[in-house]
Amino acid sequence: MKFGAEDNAGWKGARILRAPGYTQVDEQWFCPEFWGGQAHSVAAGGRGSAWFIQSESGALVLRHYRRGGLAARVSDRRYLFTGFDKTRSFSEFRLLQNLHECGLPVPKPVAAIARRRGLSYEAAILIERIKGAQPLPEHPDVRDEKLWQQVGETIGSFHQEGLDHVDLNCDNILVATGRIYLIDFDRCRLHRETEKAAGWKDRNLRRLRRSVEKRLRVLTEQERTNLWQALLEGYFAA
Ligand SMILES: Nc1ncnc2c1ncn2[C@@H]1O[C@H](COP(=O)(O)OP(=O)(O)O)[C@@H](O)[C@H]1O
Ligand SMILES: [Mg+2]
Repeated sequence: MKFGAEDNAGWKGARILRAPGYTQVDEQWFCPEFWGGQAHSVAAGGRGSAWFIQSESGALVLRHYRRGGLAARVSDRRYLFTGFDKTRSFSEFRLLQNLHECGLPVPKPVAAIARRRGLSYEAAILIERIKGAQPLPEHPDVRDEKLWQQVGETIGSFHQEGLDHVDLNCDNILVATGRIYLIDFDRCRLHRETEKAAGWKDRNLRRLRRSVEKRLRVLTEQERTNLWQALLEGYFAA
């Protein structure tokens, strides 16, 4: 099944979670077609199911949850339903609210939707767009060690709160004027155990290191090594 043009009733019967101040959000907000020229597919750094949206309540990002890899051949949008609170969208929405309340630099969640279809469900989320933000690999200061140190400090502060970012890659790090944000918290979780040497912290960092190798080929190996060193300095200083 597809959302939008072929199936305008795509989200009928769905359940929606809304942040305070967004009571006007309804099913249609989750259909890119509803926005017409006010929705633009996110070109850089995504998997092709995210849109930038200009709404009357400000700039938003819409994301439909999709599978990658092998599972996508079976069904790329369906997940096993085990309750609304356990859906990908409701979980990410609540996690973002939580992180925001902790004072961590994350975009504010706007609304989450999930619709049950038999044993499975489909889901999407709306998030406030961070003004002037660019993914780290595209930022003009990508060679600046100070910036990488700041990125390290930011990751360190998330780790101190117990946030395990299971998809920590370069494109999920956004640089806005004077501030670094982490995004894309699908399947991420908060650990209560936050001791220094926790294995999940190490896994997050190794995942990011691989992404740096893959995504920043424009830099020399020496540059990447130096920038990674700066990131670690920031991380351990945090
Ligand atoms: N809140 C946001 N503000 C600004 N840009 C965003 C925001 N959320 C996502 N983006 C942009 O959209 C891209 C894809 O979004 P993301 O949440 O990472 O989804 P996915 O990686 O699953 O496609 C990001 O790399 C970033 O460029
Ligand atoms: Mg991403």
